[in-house]
Amino acid sequence: MTNKANNPAWSILGAGAIGSLWACYAQNNGQAVELILRDQASLAAYQAHGGISFSSEQQTQLLNISACCPETLAHPIQQLLITTKAQQTIAALQSIKAHIHPKAHLVLLQNGLGITEQVQAHFPQALVLQASTTEGAYRSSRFAVVHAGRGQTLIGAASIEPRTNTSLAQSTAIAESLSFAPLQVAASENMAAVLWRKLAINCAINPLTVLHRCRNGELLSNPAALTHISQVVDEILQLSKQLHLDQYVEGLQQQVLDVARNTANNRSSMLQDIESGRETEIDAITGYLCRLAAKQGLTLPTNQFLYDEIQRITALNRR
Ligand SMILES: NC(=O)c1ccc[n+]([C@@H]2O[C@H](COP(=O)([O-])OP(=O)(O)OC[C@H]3O[C@@H](n4cnc5c(N)ncnc54)[C@H](OP(=O)(O)O)[C@@H]3O)[C@@H](O)[C@H]2O)c1
Repeated sequence: MTNKANNPAWSILGAGAIGSLWACYAQNNGQAVELILRDQASLAAYQAHGGISFSSEQQTQLLNISACCPETLAHPIQQLLITTKAQQTIAALQSIKAHIHPKAHLVLLQNGLGITEQVQAHFPQALVLQASTTEGAYRSSRFAVVHAGRGQTLIGAASIEPRTNTSLAQSTAIAESLSFAPLQVAASENMAAVLWRKLAINCAINPLTVLHRCRNGELLSNPAALTHISQVVDEILQLSKQLHLDQYVEGLQQQVLDVARNTANNRSSMLQDIESGRETEIDAITGYLCRLAAKQGLTLPTNQFLYDEIQRITALNRR
């Protein structure tokens, strides 16, 4: 997709850990990108900070990446990387809707499912893709980002429906244009499998780390948590069978245990959100799963229990 001179190739909505990670590597690769901040107060704070303080294995730098906010956006957006939390997406997009080209490329780089359908409904002519990453980043302060762990990023049609109209060639071109070294983005021929498996693993780990208030690895030595994992997995396998997605989650129980072991020291993002009094992504993870099951006439008692518990804890946090 072409841009007028001076317009950035990519605009990035959500200057948090992941959005800043992509923006910083783009800048280090000499690619013009632009961060879209929430409002004028955020933009002023960003400018006062002088940009993003970025720490990677190689170095720590202060990168003055071009930034704007809805009030100062001055050009049509043709390629937008969306890196807000799932539940923040629609409000964030609404704030810049007037600037988004009807046929824009919109890439959601975030966890959870069900948001892309809402985005597509707001932008019926846009190409909406979803990306899933295992890169790890965190903010040590508001505009300071640490690249904590290397991973992989896959991109593709934003749907768990195996058949979609998005061509692999389109996804490949977009993946290449988002591959700011050392970040590598690849187009997936079977994004449905990637998304479904990721959702399943998130459902089996994230809410349980909140329920048991523990790091990922501690789930493995807690008999009650292990029972919950088995129940969550069984329910997902039952739903997967009904949706003909069971081939995507073969060996799920073992995969969940492996992920918990390989990320043993991590505090899941859901646990961190709860501990910081923030909203979690439960609605786009376990909530999405339970709603999908309900459409199939299935109830998933353990997943529903976990969904209700996280909502209850979030509400208590707000008081
Ligand atoms: N961090 C990781 O290592 C990692 C790894 C894999 C996947 N993910 C997924 O990636 C997504 C982003 O995660 P993250 O860790 O980067 O979250 P984050 O640090 O909380 O970043 C979200 C950003 O979105 C911004 N935002 C929210 N509403 C906005 C609005 N209306 N307008 C403009 N900006 C808005 C937030 O701004 P404020 O600061 O003003 O609230 C924040 O900067 C999540 O789905 C997460 O699950 C993260």
